[in-house]
Amino acid sequence: MAALLEVRDLTIEFTTKAGIVHAVEGASFDVERGEALGLAGESGCGKTTTALALMRLLPYNGRIVRGSISFAGRSLVPLEEASMRAIRWKEMSIVFQGAMNSLNPVQRVGRQIAEPIILHEDADSDVALKRAGDLLELVGISRNRLNDYPHEFSGGMRQRVMIAMALACDPKLVIADEPVTALDVMIQAQILDLLERLRRELDLAMILISHDLSVLADTCEQVTIMYAGKTMESGKTMDLFTDPKHPYTQGLVGAFPDIRGPRNMPEAIPGDVPSLISPPSGCVFHPRCKFAFDRCSNAEPELSELAPGRRAACFLYPEVTEVPGRSMPIATR
Ligand SMILES: Nc1ncnc2c1ncn2[C@@H]1O[C@H](COP(=O)(O)OP(=O)(O)OP(=O)(O)O)[C@@H](O)[C@H]1O
Ligand SMILES: [Mg+2]
Repeated sequence: MAALLEVRDLTIEFTTKAGIVHAVEGASFDVERGEALGLAGESGCGKTTTALALMRLLPYNGRIVRGSISFAGRSLVPLEEASMRAIRWKEMSIVFQGAMNSLNPVQRVGRQIAEPIILHEDADSDVALKRAGDLLELVGISRNRLNDYPHEFSGGMRQRVMIAMALACDPKLVIADEPVTALDVMIQAQILDLLERLRRELDLAMILISHDLSVLADTCEQVTIMYAGKTMESGKTMDLFTDPKHPYTQGLVGAFPDIRGPRNMPEAIPGDVPSLISPPSGCVFHPRCKFAFDRCSNAEPELSELAPGRRAACFLYPEVTEVPGRSMPIATR
């Protein structure tokens, strides 16, 4: 059976005064029913852009240049906004990055959860408020708190509220964009446990986005590693952790301390993420890669299957070939 979500060659650009930003190029991944996929990579690598494109909520200057998004058998890229509205929130929803800080400070939390239910499900106010109470309890908050204001909630509780809102219309897939960033470590673990419990109880599929691989380790079956808009590696989470193939993944895995191992200081990957207006020629990671050789700056490695379910885009592996027609430096296209 086809996966719940199938993304193929998704390519997204932003038009800016300074030029075209190649935010995502050639992203391909699947999310199976009830399964969690992790999207990881440093800041600016295109995680949020990918998520917004799936929801068809890119900002006005962003567009899907090519590629396809198939969700529950429907092709989302060509959909009219009116048809997309029948899917967005109801079948696929998102906890936006940083959203817990954007709750309306002067409106009671229950009202804020109820509003999208009134809007999307055409429910009356009493029914929506009752559902808001059920949703609060589902995310571990007493319904007695329905009449409280956001400032009466801790950061972790506000994030629970955002998760409750994403679940309001009973979606099949929830995207959580950096759901635990800015929360302290104890609270991070509680929110991740909550997401895991909801996934099991509601049989939800999830896309969990984080710049921190350790956040994805226990939650996601599969992980896709992005860098500068490109997919560097993908596979089963455990395989990526125990035997990272791509030098960028190796850097990311080394960049956080192993909670089970000796307390080494994390070793950051030297250098910076490149400009996505004029990305480096060849492999986008080559300027920061300690293994780079001539070919890496001249030709772009294709994301190739190294083992069943395991893909990497790196010339260190003989199976990896060039992306056809893309051996010229991208900057000169
Ligand atoms: N509306 C926009 N206009 C122009 N460029 C944009 C816009 N939104 C994002 N970008 C650029 O697209 C690239 C990808 O950004 P994105 O927000 O998807 O990264 P991210 O992986 O989510 O990063 P973070 O970890 O910081 O959230 C970045 O270079 C960013 O500056
Ligand atoms: Mg982001």
